[in-house]
Amino acid sequence: MILNMAEFTNYTKKGFDNRIVRYNEIHKITNEQYKALITAIDPQSGDVIFEGCAGYADVSKHIIEATKDYSIKPEIYIQDESLVQIKRAQDGLFISEDHILLGDIRKTGMPDNTFDKTVIKMGVHELPKEEQQKVFNEMYRILKKNGKFIIWELSLGDKTQLVFQDIVRKKDELAGFDALVKNRYFQKHEELKALFNNAGFKNIKDEYYIRYTFNPKGRFAELISKDKLKILDQKKILTQEDENELKERAGERTNQLIEYIRQRIPKDLRDVFEYKDLGDDIEICVNKVIMSGIK
Ligand SMILES: C[S@@+](CC[C@H](N)C(=O)[O-])C[C@H]1O[C@@H](n2cnc3c(N)ncnc32)[C@H](O)[C@@H]1O
Repeated sequence: MILNMAEFTNYTKKGFDNRIVRYNEIHKITNEQYKALITAIDPQSGDVIFEGCAGYADVSKHIIEATKDYSIKPEIYIQDESLVQIKRAQDGLFISEDHILLGDIRKTGMPDNTFDKTVIKMGVHELPKEEQQKVFNEMYRILKKNGKFIIWELSLGDKTQLVFQDIVRKKDELAGFDALVKNRYFQKHEELKALFNNAGFKNIKDEYYIRYTFNPKGRFAELISKDKLKILDQKKILTQEDENELKERAGERTNQLIEYIRQRIPKDLRDVFEYKDLGDDIEICVNKVIMSGIK
């Protein structure tokens, strides 16, 4: 489990090996939202903290920044299943290599009762619906008694879940993220509560609400990120011609996504989504939540 690049000879490619994006940009994350997450985590001197589905470990980077004046710093572990994301995480992250884990969130390999806090931001929805309970059970297992599990997730309603999921699937399909099209399940708020509850968590709490605006133009670069990586893999450089071709393809895909949303959102749901058709773009809004439970 412990990351030692030289030993990775039989690694199979993961969905996020192709998805190189900055979440702050595509999810329009504000400083206030990150502050609310840190408040929910409430890192204390000497805490042992686990960040799962860490991606490039932005949460851990914020925890480190928030605790830089502590005399005893928290001890942080990060884990992700994607080698590409783990390599991104290592950039500018001051965590020792034996605390950087490549692996599956359902089976962290960590001992029982190890952590004071575990946190997963925008990670649980990457797993199929029937697998998500395993994540909550695993976080419960590795937390110490009275330890806290914090998530940042989409929080959809009965009317919005299927429609929003279809829209994101369409975006993933256009971008060629085949594994993500297959696996992801975006939860309703009630389902999140049940996942905490079924794992045994107490004091389940909504810590903070986020209203998030999704718009196809905001995904322009993401829609060709896989194509761009492929060219770079093959040729190591991008020519002006490649850049132009990619730009054109991104424009076409953005327009396809706009048209899909126009067709997919029924008229009677447009108010719920705060649907705005701007002609060359569409904006829709959904909820996210920062939520916690105590072991
Ligand atoms: C949307 S990204 C979020 C990254 C990070 N938490 C953030 O918000 O900046 C989801 C991450 O979950 C990882 N992931 C997906 N399924 C996983 C699994 N079964 N085990 C571990 N990591 C997983 C992906 O590789 C990806 O890096």
